[in-house]
Amino acid sequence: MITIKEVSAEETYEIRFEVLRKGIDLPTQFSGDFDTDTFHLGVFENEKLVGISSFMKTDNSEFNSEQYQLRGMATLSIARGKGIGKLMLDKAVLILKERKANVLWCNARAIALQFYLKQNFQKKGKSFEINKIGVHYMLFKNI
Ligand SMILES: CC(C)(COP(=O)(O)OP(=O)(O)OC[C@H]1O[C@@H](n2cnc3c(N)ncnc32)[C@H](O)[C@@H]1OP(=O)(O)O)[C@@H](O)C(=O)NCCC(=O)NCCS
Repeated sequence: MITIKEVSAEETYEIRFEVLRKGIDLPTQFSGDFDTDTFHLGVFENEKLVGISSFMKTDNSEFNSEQYQLRGMATLSIARGKGIGKLMLDKAVLILKERKANVLWCNARAIALQFYLKQNFQKKGKSFEINKIGVHYMLFKNI
């Protein structure tokens, strides 16, 4: 059975490390993890945490409305392709609508670009490099 709920920042660290930080010398803790507006989602498959994502209120001048940044989106490799990433984005949009946010944006890895485009994100500007990780696109979705 697949369930989704809010989790603590600390609960995301194991999957962040496993999926997003292995072999990359960058911290698993993000600035903003404990800000009061931040929330983290976890998806459980038979009570095992298999997917995580974090949502942080931001003030990015690229967007002139109430905005949140998606960070640390990851599904364990054994659990991919089952709609878990989509489930987290759909749940986040519901929460963000309640919070009167208008935009969800992220810096997406090029390898995940198609996943986000399928969820109706749009590209903002050209691709750019993030040190130690690789090519990224700024993407956003109006909500
Ligand atoms: C990107 C990621 C979070 C997607 O999670 P997921 O739970 O497998 O996604 P879903 O099952 O909800 O996929 C939804 C749709 O997107 C597609 N999709 C998922 N990941 C994709 C990818 N990397 N490239 C192309 N399509 C992808 C799925 O096939 C599915 O398509 P469908 O609706 O036609 O069936 C997961 O692949 C992952 O953790 N990747 C490694 C870490 C990463 O790159 N994170 C993003 C950092 S910006």
